[in-house]
Amino acid sequence: YTITVDASTRGAEISDSMYGVFFEDINWAADGGLYAELIRNRSFEFSPADNAAYNGLTGWTVTGAASATDDEARLNERNRTYLDLNGSATSSPFATVLGDFYDFSVWARADAATRLTITLGAARQIVNVRSSGANGWAKYSGSFRATTTTDAATLKVESSGPVKLDMVSLFPRKTFKGHGLRTDLATKIAALDPGFVRFPGGCLVNTGSMYGYDAASGYPRARSYQWKDTVGPVETRATNANFWGYNQSYGLGYYEYFQFAEDIGAAPLPVVPALVTGCGQNRATDDPALLQRHIQDTLDLIEFANGPVTSTWGKLRARMGHPKPFGLSMIAVGNEENLPDAYFANYLKFRDAIKAAYPQITVIGNSGPDDQGATFDRLWQLNRDAKSDMVDEHYYNSPSWFLQNNARYNAYDRNGPKVFLGEYASQDAKFANSLAEAAYMTGLERNADVVKMASYAPLLANIDHVQWRPDLIWFDADESWGTTSYQTQKLFMNNVGDRVVPSSVTGAVVQPKPIAGRVGLSTWATAARYDDVKVTGTDGTVLFSDDFADGDANGWTSLSNRGTWAVQDGAYVQSDTAATNTMVAAATDITATDYDITLKATKT
Ligand code: AHR
Repeated sequence: YTITVDASTRGAEISDSMYGVFFEDINWAADGGLYAELIRNRSFEFSPADNAAYNGLTGWTVTGAASATDDEARLNERNRTYLDLNGSATSSPFATVLGDFYDFSVWARADAATRLTITLGAARQIVNVRSSGANGWAKYSGSFRATTTTDAATLKVESSGPVKLDMVSLFPRKTFKGHGLRTDLATKIAALDPGFVRFPGGCLVNTGSMYGYDAASGYPRARSYQWKDTVGPVETRATNANFWGYNQSYGLGYYEYFQFAEDIGAAPLPVVPALVTGCGQNRATDDPALLQRHIQDTLDLIEFANGPVTSTWGKLRARMGHPKPFGLSMIAVGNEENLPDAYFANYLKFRDAIKAAYPQITVIGNSGPDDQGATFDRLWQLNRDAKSDMVDEHYYNSPSWFLQNNARYNAYDRNGPKVFLGEYASQDAKFANSLAEAAYMTGLERNADVVKMASYAPLLANIDHVQWRPDLIWFDADESWGTTSYQTQKLFMNNVGDRVVPSSVTGAVVQPKPIAGRVGLSTWATAARYDDVKVTGTDGTVLFSDDFADGDANGWTSLSNRGTWAVQDGAYVQSDTAATNTMVAAATDITATDYDITLKATKT
């Protein structure tokens, strides 16, 4: 076949920030990952509400009298639980490097002078806690030089008498640009040269309780990710349950995200909760005052990022160490909501308020996950009608899907909202992923007039704590490595073109029509049976069919995002009611240019 390149015609411009990264605290990506803190549960706030296996002493081995206590002696209203100790407490293991420095700090309070003996390997420090009476919490600091290279170091704190301890912290002195992030991970992300950083999620953002930490609502765990919970001195930040089943300390909070984006030369792209819980939870607030508070919080976030140091929130940014604005230019409202009309009503209120105060900010709406057909289509329609600046799309699929759908954006309206492909990944157990992604990214670039930004997901995974795979960068306590998809992303991000050079192909190349039909149920929380699948060419030829009568799934691979599928009684059954899933035909060499898909789907 022949490829013709038309160098005389100027194609679409490709923005330098076309490719970026999406950081979400999934797979222990933050605590125990990018955030360089070495002490797990440093503030004794872990709770069974985060994970049934947790309590205030999770991550610690104690001797003598030791309890995690929440009473009026607490450090502050947000950091409530402290360690009441007359004995010793030893942390979970972490890695140290021989000769490197590690900075230690602890908040302590005692009624009588008390000595703390703090041990890291063979290195020892004495801290004398002054008798401090009723409300006398004070911070004590020191530093260690590691006596060994190991991934099994622990920090032991031993008291000579009764003492209250909180925020027991140990950081490597060397962090990325001195800003508290793990050097190897941050360096690998920086090496991608991303144009933007989307954060903090994902499903993490707007699931669970919608209330923040405040006197009126109490202290709901699993509340949505609210930026004001995550800023200010770390010892005054709240902690929270994480959507992915563990605890989040918020040590890596909004200030740190903005700082990191700046440090790697990327534009910050925060996602704020829209008060409609996505990711399978399907609830929307009916409290206008709460909605208004979140809208105001979003305006305050923009002030925190960009406002003068004389403004309320700009002053906090300056106090935290960054008087200069962070240059926030875009913001996304919500993530994967399954109640399109409820979401969109809220989105419009956010957008109108943001545009009224900050007309130059790009506001990004979303379209829900691509596999939720009706929701996706409805959300796109609403975004088109409302002339949204940009729409966030998400999809995880097989390598063959990515190859077959290379032309997906050829058909998008050139005058409609622009596309932000906020999450995508090819999901196969083999190396096919990175090649399929590379091929697909040529389709994104070819349509750079419509697709303005794209980010692979998820970014990080701790090899011992995996909720989702594949992931771009893997790590353990002291090592990290990129996947072949990391190399693909790096190749594209480090070599972003200036503009598209139009080209065409003739000869024995079949350009399959993107698969536009979707089948299935549009809510996640519903068990379903699927049978009688047929893919038929428009000339009537059956290209693929399966009625599952043979009781097995021959001819199919199942990409199991969140649940379990099985063949039962002549049907393909989604048995995990909280799951969404994708069925993929293993025989995917359907090369006809037009076809129809039919599938019988039944709620069970
Ligand atoms: O990237 C992992 C998850 O996939 C995100 O949290 C969510 O937005 C999507 O479903």
